[in-house]
Amino acid sequence: MTNAGRNVLAEHPDSPGSLGIAISEAVEDAVTHKNSRYSLGSVLNHVLMHQTIIGLEAQKQMDKLGVYPDVVIGCAGGGSNFAGIALPFARDKIHGKRVTIIGAEPSSCPTMTRGPFAYDFGDLAKMTPLLPMYTLGHDFVPPSIHAGGLRYHGMAPVVSHLVREKVMEARAYNQLETFDAGVKWARTEGFIPAPETNHAIAAVVDEAMRAKEEGKEKVILFDWSGHGLVDLASYEAYLSGKLEQYDLPEEEIQRALKAIEGLPKP
Ligand SMILES: Cc1ncc(COP(=O)(O)O)c(C=O)c1O
Repeated sequence: MTNAGRNVLAEHPDSPGSLGIAISEAVEDAVTHKNSRYSLGSVLNHVLMHQTIIGLEAQKQMDKLGVYPDVVIGCAGGGSNFAGIALPFARDKIHGKRVTIIGAEPSSCPTMTRGPFAYDFGDLAKMTPLLPMYTLGHDFVPPSIHAGGLRYHGMAPVVSHLVREKVMEARAYNQLETFDAGVKWARTEGFIPAPETNHAIAAVVDEAMRAKEEGKEKVILFDWSGHGLVDLASYEAYLSGKLEQYDLPEEEIQRALKAIEGLPKP
């Protein structure tokens, strides 16, 4: 219903859509209607700051338990829930605490693990300001994997910066690994995670197994983002063997580089 959306359909009638397209449509709607306002839900640094209430509260809970996490994990789409839990611990780390901070992303949308760090737009129609971030290019259209919210082409600038500075690290998991972790969780804990959350749980499982191998006791804190009761169809697809492993092909990285060609470099 917007010019941005119609332009996409004119070029790609079968477009499955992308978060970058959705943002273009939302911005267009906001600027063309007197009574519309648009409040961003992720990516921009001020949104991340707002989310840090999660990490601040987690720190209080850890204090009450008399422990400090060895590892802090979150799944990362645009970066807000991950930064929400991680930034207060990143501050501690900058002041000398030892803590490993891991953002888990899909291998089908490997922004932090394979994207270049560059100035790019936050949306397809180039309506947002330029952001310095890891990016797969503003024209990235993600494959239809079952982790909708993690398929954004960029990563919040402050998260990108802290990954570059090695205060945080990034890992990519494919959707079979993530559903495997999610099903393990559901069977042991009795409740079902959202497909996005399964990425964080896959990293938790990895870290727990590593601690076991090393014979170390570790406190692993992770952010439970949303719940999976609304996405049982994706579990059905996984359990009936319909999900495929999909890693982003190298040509897609070349396309990303083309999309940011000519933009200023950070
Ligand atoms: C359940 C869930 N977790 C996590 C995310 C990740 O988003 P972000 O990294 O932008 O916080 C999403 C996004 O839609 C989501 O739906």
